[in-house]
Parts: sequence; C-alpha cells; structure tokens
Amino acid sequence: MQTKAAVLYEYNQPLVVEDVELDPPKAGEVLIKVGAAGICRSDLHFMKGHARAPLPIVLGHEASGTVEEVGSGVTSVKPGDRVVLSFVSACGRCNNCTDGRPNICETRAQFWTSQFDGTSRLHKGGQPIAQFDQMSCFAEYSVVPESACIPAPDSLPLDIGALIGCCTTTGVGAVLASAKVEPGSTVAVVGCGGVGLNVIMGAVLVNASQIIAVDINEGKLEFAMKFGATHSVNPSNQDAVARVKEITGGKGVDYAFEVFGSGKTVEMTYNMTRKGGTSVIVGIAPLGETAPIDAVSLVRDEKILKGAYYGSVRMRTDMPKIMDMYLSGRLKLDDLITRRYSLDQINEAYDDLQRGDVGRGVITSF
Ligand SMILES: NC(=O)c1ccc[n+]([C@@H]2O[C@H](COP(=O)([O-])OP(=O)(O)OC[C@H]3O[C@@H](n4cnc5c(N)ncnc54)[C@H](O)[C@@H]3O)[C@@H](O)[C@H]2O)c1
Ligand SMILES: [Zn+2]
Ligand SMILES: [Zn+2]
Repeated sequence: MQTKAAVLYEYNQPLVVEDVELDPPKAGEVLIKVGAAGICRSDLHFMKGHARAPLPIVLGHEASGTVEEVGSGVTSVKPGDRVVLSFVSACGRCNNCTDGRPNICETRAQFWTSQFDGTSRLHKGGQPIAQFDQMSCFAEYSVVPESACIPAPDSLPLDIGALIGCCTTTGVGAVLASAKVEPGSTVAVVGCGGVGLNVIMGAVLVNASQIIAVDINEGKLEFAMKFGATHSVNPSNQDAVARVKEITGGKGVDYAFEVFGSGKTVEMTYNMTRKGGTSVIVGIAPLGETAPIDAVSLVRDEKILKGAYYGSVRMRTDMPKIMDMYLSGRLKLDDLITRRYSLDQINEAYDDLQRGDVGRGVITSF
C-alpha cells in the first residue's frame, strides 16, 4: 500500500513528506494506523547528524494508533485494538529480556532500523527506507513487531497515548523505576522540555520535598513551576551547581536528572548531587561526546551515576500502569501538549522544538 511519510534523505535537510510504499505485515508483525506522534528531541539528533542511522529513514518513535491488520502468528492484538507503541521491541528471549530489563533488549544493536528479519517494510522506487526504532511513526501507517504493541483502553486519548510511548514513560520511569526516588527526597531536573517535565511530574507523584527545575529557557522554568517544581534555576545567569547547593542547605540534591543531552549538562548534574546522591542521565548527548567526572568524589562520596533508557521500565507491565495513572487523574498530561500539528507541518514542529516553545508538540493529523 501507499502511505504518506516524512522521509530523512540527508542530515541537516528538511524532512520530505511524500507517499512511499509500505509492505503488508509479515509473520509476527502488525500494521498500525498511526493516531498521534510526538515531537521528541531524539529524532532531532538524527536529523542533525548528531546520531547516525542508515539513510533514507522515516523517523518517529513516540506514538499510539489502531491495529489495522495482523501478520500470521500474532495473538496479542487484533484489528480495531488501540495500542501505545513501545519504541523498543523486546525479543523476550535474550539475557536482558529474561532478566526483567526488556528496555535494553540485546537484539536492538542489530535490529533497530529494520524488522526482526533484517528487512524494512518501507521503500520507494525499489530503494529500501529504514524504519527507525522498527517503527517509523512519522507516517500515516506503520508496520511494527508484535512486541511493540502495548494494548491500551479505548478511553485513553490517542495524543496522550503517544506521550506514553516515549516522553512520559521515559520521564516518570526515570523517577519510579530507575532512581526509585523515596518520598521526601530532594530532586533537581536539568532540562525541562517534554521529557524533563515528565520527570518533574514523577517527582511530584512520589512526594519529593524539593523539586528544582534547571533550564536556560525562562519560559520552560515558568512552565516547570506549574507542573510542580518548587524552585527554578537558570544556568545562563547563575552558577547552577552553587545555587542548587544553596537551596538544599549546602548539601546538593539526593537525585539529579539530566534531561537535555550534552557532556556539560551531565557534568553539571553530577556535581549537583549530595554525598551519597544519585545522578540519572536521560538525555542523549551527540555521538562521541564525553563528560568529565571527578573520579575521587565518585568513590569518597559514594556517588551513583547511571543512565536510564526508556525510564528503565518493563514496557509490557509498566506502560499500562502509566496509562492508569493518567486515567485516574494523577498525571496531568493534557496540559503538556501545547501544540498539535499535521504531518505536513513536521519541519515547523521541529523548528518550534529547537526554539524551545513550551511543552510537547504532537502530530495528530496525517
Ligand atoms: N533515555 C531515553 O530513553 C530518552 C527518551 C526520550 C528522549 N531522550 C533524550 O532526552 C533529551 C530531552 O528530550 P526532549 O524531547 O525533552 O527535548 P526538549 O528539547 O523538549 O527539552 C530539552 C530542554 O533542555 C533545555 N536545555 C538546553 N540546554 C540546556 C542547558 N545547558 N542547561 C539546562 N537546560 C538546557 C532546553 O531549553 C529544553 O527545555 C534528548 O536528548 C532526548 O534525545 C532520551
Ligand atoms: Zn523520544
Ligand atoms: Zn531481548
């Protein structure tokens, strides 16, 4: 079939919205009519060439949709079902999957831009087009592995489902599943965009005592305060580490989250934590970037530095819980969506993200 899709042919060039060929789902695969797709910074890294993938590619990894058709052997979903798409399709058999860590499934190194048989269902004029995160949701329709399909109730709005596909699960998961923040803890969040605001919401959920928003954009800081931050710090006009220490009575925070993606912000995040504190890195820095960490403090202060991919969640068990948290009114995700776009406006949507317009943009018409 033909599907409209936003194709990345060259780094640093606009995405081309055009019709491409989409093959039917093979065994173990599912055809999805994409309902909503979020504008996440992770796709931007590939558009700018700060992260590399085979080109041409259709990006997009934060999505929800409706099952249109299933390939042979698919049993967990059927046509008409609403699903949130997991941007990691877990194999269920590797060491990490069987160890309860499907978010870092080992098959991903090999199959992150193709289906599990190593081929893509997208092509144009005989040329294959890679499927980002086995998904490519910047398109009207998409073929994904069955394990990407997390069943969602019909009462979950499609745009909210898209957020749960990446930014909410990544942000709330970083607090609950990765850091396991205890009530009363002090928290700093460096980078308060779509994902960072979800970290703030996660910190509110666990009753953190102080939630310090750190961002270079004043608009984001004001927005962060509306989502429950108790303090705001702008590193462009003050020493952010010194200010966070001052707010926490000279100690530094129990938990600091890096949610922008650079060596500099990783360093800042680490330096904000107290003796015995934990830094969780969520942002994805440009390829090859490093962060200087004081090797002595790591030992003498027993600091913990860890990464959190997809919020360290088990997608199949934790994403339905996050859906319930929204449906029961404990996550204010509606307020996060500040602009809706059509697929034709995707380049404009990424310009808005780079300008730092508040909240999350979502594509809701294709
Ligand atoms: N670990 C994962 O699984 C995962 C999942 C999704 C996104 N990400 C990554 O998380 C990061 C954030 O994504 P997003 O979609 O929220 O992006 P975003 O653009 O919405 O937000 C980034 C925020 O960082 C702020 N910022 C920029 N420079 C800063 C600085 N020096 N100090 C403090 N704040 C600064 C920006 O003003 C913005 O508010 C990206 O690197 C993205 O790739 C990781
Ligand atoms: Zn994302
Ligand atoms: Zn696996």
